[in-house]
Amino acid sequence: MTNIKLGVLVSGSGTNLQAIIDAVEQGVLNAELAVVISNKKDAYALERARKHQIPALFINHKDYAKREDFEQALIKELDSRNVDLVCLAGFMRVLTPYFVNHFPHRILNIHPALLPAAKGLYGEHVHQAILDSGAKFSGCTVHFVTADVDGGPIVLQKIVPVEDDDTPLSLAERILEVEHTAYPEAVKLFSEHKLEIIGNRVKIKK
Ligand code: GAR
Repeated sequence: MTNIKLGVLVSGSGTNLQAIIDAVEQGVLNAELAVVISNKKDAYALERARKHQIPALFINHKDYAKREDFEQALIKELDSRNVDLVCLAGFMRVLTPYFVNHFPHRILNIHPALLPAAKGLYGEHVHQAILDSGAKFSGCTVHFVTADVDGGPIVLQKIVPVEDDDTPLSLAERILEVEHTAYPEAVKLFSEHKLEIIGNRVKIKK
């Protein structure tokens, strides 16, 4: 099986990045982490990457006048390392069609709810919206990124129950645990060429 090159975009703690690193190091996922890029200087995710000798870059979106200029800087770093798949792992910037079209069906994102629930929301707002909706289940979604924010073809979802006494934080924590199995699983399916996109649906080949 080919060893695909991953570029991971992050903004925060990077526990999903860690799950991918662990899957690679355990030999579960046949991939190479080519680069980790953060738009936040102090993101702990950069530290995690450095601890594993993975190139870790800080590219400040505030240094660029336009979103596309920032994205061009990201593309330059990703392309120079021949990245096959871009993984958004808690990356808190919306990407324009300029970036998305550069990597057609080659960008994955993880969303901490069962899309289309809480579409377009991020962080605590996602979980507050789920609690406000009265839903009894939430979970996470790994999906391909298209220009429609959180609207691209869904690769897989994992379900967790919403408990009566949940707060946005307690729900987020329960979901984060399943994210850590979902993301490596989705990347593995991609790396094995098992994902077939038909319209807005993803068929998983046997
Ligand atoms: C994760 O829960 C991820 O699903 C969420 O941010 C968290 C990042 O955690 N992403 C979004 O809300 C994007 N809309 P991590 O930095 O520990 O991986």
